Amino acid sequence: MAQDHVYFFDTTLRDGEQSPGCSMTQPEKLAMAHSLADLGVDILEAGFAIASEGDFASIQKIAEEVSGPTIASLARAREEDIERAIQALDKAKKKRLHVFLASSDLHLEYKLKISRDEAIDRIGKSITQAKGRVDEIEFSPEDATRTDPAYLRKVVATAIEAGATIINLPDTVGFSMPSEYAAMFRMIREQVPGADKIILSAHTHDDLGLATANALAAIEGGARQVEVAVNGIGERAGNAALEEVAVALRVRAEYFKVEHQLKIDKLYPVSQQLSSFISFGPAPNKAIVGNNAFAHEAGIHQHGMLANPLTYEIITPASVGAPAKPLVLGKHSGRHALRSRLEELGYKLNADELNAAYHAFTALADRKKAIYDQDLVNLVDNGVLAPAK
Ligand code: KIV
Ligand code: ZN
Repeated sequence: MAQDHVYFFDTTLRDGEQSPGCSMTQPEKLAMAHSLADLGVDILEAGFAIASEGDFASIQKIAEEVSGPTIASLARAREEDIERAIQALDKAKKKRLHVFLASSDLHLEYKLKISRDEAIDRIGKSITQAKGRVDEIEFSPEDATRTDPAYLRKVVATAIEAGATIINLPDTVGFSMPSEYAAMFRMIREQVPGADKIILSAHTHDDLGLATANALAAIEGGARQVEVAVNGIGERAGNAALEEVAVALRVRAEYFKVEHQLKIDKLYPVSQQLSSFISFGPAPNKAIVGNNAFAHEAGIHQHGMLANPLTYEIITPASVGAPAKPLVLGKHSGRHALRSRLEELGYKLNADELNAAYHAFTALADRKKAIYDQDLVNLVDNGVLAPAK
């Protein structure tokens, strides 16, 4: 039986780019868009057309030049936003309008200062305004996870009735727990007329460090689109990291039983490219693309890795396009790792020599953070194997 497809909606150039330290020039955005298309994202959110002239121009350029993914522009549920977004998308082969309006009482009362009924009215009108003028309309009730469930059902029903075929349920403030988020998708699918005929989408933020977990939980709850950003960039603590969701679905394919079309061997180069454009890169211990994501230092781990990489490695660096990481020698490394590195450097030591080398190595490792190959060469040539004076 064919497996369900999970659509990757990339928001690196919208939610990601709008966050501090992440702004990019128009040529940088275009270069990212081409790389994201090569990576295989299904939908590329190129920006928020009405936000600035620069955003509008970038969306237009991407719509004109980037083929492969559907190109999306964000718009508030307002007439002028929708016109501007449709205009920016004009040259795209496949166009998606992404309309949003907050649905939680907190947002309605304090931010938008409108009633629940007024919001319902705006949603219906906005979607009707765009219907037939783009290929697809996505609607997002912002702050869905803090919205009264009965009202959320009414909002979603209104959007579907007006013509939205993708309903995104954002965890705007990263508040939800994975089991609650999954349950919300099940509830919408089961209780809103027509929700089983459209695509439900997850958009998660990392305020509690749960963005990836929530995106994956949503898939378990029936979502078939995930909104993600490279390196997890995005508002505040960021969005779900594209690379984490993509690799989790591959590594645990037997668990999720869904497929996606991303070429995961392009993940590392795309992450590096983004880091070169914005003002920060991923944390060293960031999953999949961090500098230490494939580094092993503890002796017991290095021993296992040398015996069989499967002991401590569920993803190979090559599978995500990352350079192979040699074992990092440091004070936690054991004799096996030392002997293996020395052999790579051309030294075959007998048991006594290896013992002596190991003692000299641990003394050095206590003083130095990292031990480089040249340190080992010095240690052996000038110590262990040096002719007695
Ligand atoms: O976090 C959010 O709610 C958003 C919406 C615009 C989808 O970014
Ligand atoms: Zn967001």
